[in-house]
Amino acid sequence: MAKKSREQAIFGDFQTPPALAALVCRTLAKRQIKPTTILEPTCGDGHFLVAATTYFPTCRHRVGVEINPVRLQRAREALATTPGTKLVCGDFFRVDWSNLLATLQDPLLVVGNPPWVTNAELSVHRGQNFPEKTNNRAGFTGLDGLTGKSNFDISQWICQHLVERLQGREATLAMLLKTAVARKIIADAWSSGAAVHGVELHMLDAKQHFGAHVDACLLLAHTGRAGDRTCRVYQQLSQPEVACELGYEPGVGLIADRVLRDATRGFETTGAHQTTWRSGIKHDCAKVFELRAVDGQLVNGFGEVVDIESEYCLPLRKSSDVAHDRLDTGRYLVVPQRRVGEDTAGLQRRAPKLWQYLSIHGDRLDARKSRIYRGRPRFSIFGIGDYTFSPWKVAISGLYKSLEFRLVGPASDGKPVVFDDTVYFLACASRGQAAAIHAALMSKTGQQFFSALIFWDQKRPVTAGLLRRLDLEKLVEHCRQTREVG
Ligand SMILES: C[S@@+](CC[C@H](N)C(=O)[O-])C[C@H]1O[C@@H](n2cnc3c(N)ncnc32)[C@H](O)[C@@H]1O
Repeated sequence: MAKKSREQAIFGDFQTPPALAALVCRTLAKRQIKPTTILEPTCGDGHFLVAATTYFPTCRHRVGVEINPVRLQRAREALATTPGTKLVCGDFFRVDWSNLLATLQDPLLVVGNPPWVTNAELSVHRGQNFPEKTNNRAGFTGLDGLTGKSNFDISQWICQHLVERLQGREATLAMLLKTAVARKIIADAWSSGAAVHGVELHMLDAKQHFGAHVDACLLLAHTGRAGDRTCRVYQQLSQPEVACELGYEPGVGLIADRVLRDATRGFETTGAHQTTWRSGIKHDCAKVFELRAVDGQLVNGFGEVVDIESEYCLPLRKSSDVAHDRLDTGRYLVVPQRRVGEDTAGLQRRAPKLWQYLSIHGDRLDARKSRIYRGRPRFSIFGIGDYTFSPWKVAISGLYKSLEFRLVGPASDGKPVVFDDTVYFLACASRGQAAAIHAALMSKTGQQFFSALIFWDQKRPVTAGLLRRLDLEKLVEHCRQTREVG
């Protein structure tokens, strides 16, 4: 996408191409949506209102609201010969929606593409395009709470506000949104008990339509009565095949795949049965801690040859190595402690070469910014304990969008492999235990368990919180009994 101007950023001013507006309207018309009134709450140049004239012959009234008078004038010109059209120059957050909606006749279609603008963007540009404090109706989850969140998107507020206002009305909401925002709107509606039914998400290619690298979709929901809390997901706007169905569980939230969840819910655990997934080592100052084998010597990030006691130097696999199953990486990590907070002064005696190496770079190591190093022994690292030194591990990268677990044994020199802090792993007592756990995690049931819960468009879909939810003991036993493999 071309660089946004300040105005574009604050007002999310990216008009929907007429062809996409037409495709959305056609999709809605195919679903037998026959509105008497169409409302476009942030109508811009009016492309949706224009497209609607072709696809909704029963529609008698069209209403558009838009904050930008230049855009509204364009909409006026485009709709000049369409009777029953009312265009209002106004700010969504200051419009009296109770009054305006009371004048509109059902069935009502609220269609459009609200501004995709986050709190963070507004604060960078010191924009004021957000709502004032509101009094929410009982039962709804508090739009005010939303505005304080750093990842709050005003399109979310707009849609949640509309869902509230449309309660009891025979209305359809059809909005283009970031997929993550659409999911939040669905989760809010379902958790607050809003009466919505027939919820659907239709994925669309935002790169193609808006030149934007973001996961986007059409959110479709009907008000007027409550339905079951499921949402069909279509891989593309124009395609009839349902890719999966989202679900909802109180206390859990949105479920990525309802069918897979039904098949694997029994493997969910909390409390005592949770497995302790560890993160790899956090050290900062990679140029000092990370070494590479070059022509039989170890070299640090400054290109200096490093000579330290071998037991303090362990083979390292980074997230990308784990994701791509690279075994012999030629990378090593300086590991001065065996547990968090272990005194390092004794290294002077126990490992004089290591002590000298770390002392030479002491200023750099002392200047590490993260607060975790404050008040800790010099040269401290984190994510270190007995588990670090287990020769057998099962690991997964937290940076990659994949459920590939790796069985990791000792390196060719017999030393335990260590990971960076973007890798999650389980330390295992033996090769046999690691193999059984790995097989279970890669089994159909193991993969389905996580697939039911993962939204792959999230930045980091694989998290320790997600991994902990699986009752691993139960899954290993299940795989043993059923001989299920990946
Ligand atoms: C993503 S564009 C979409 C325009 C139009 N809905 C379409 O689909 O082509 C968002 C529109 O919202 C308008 N807008 C932004 N903030 C607004 C507000 N607070 N009230 C009303 N309109 C607003 C912008 O000027 C812009 O025209």
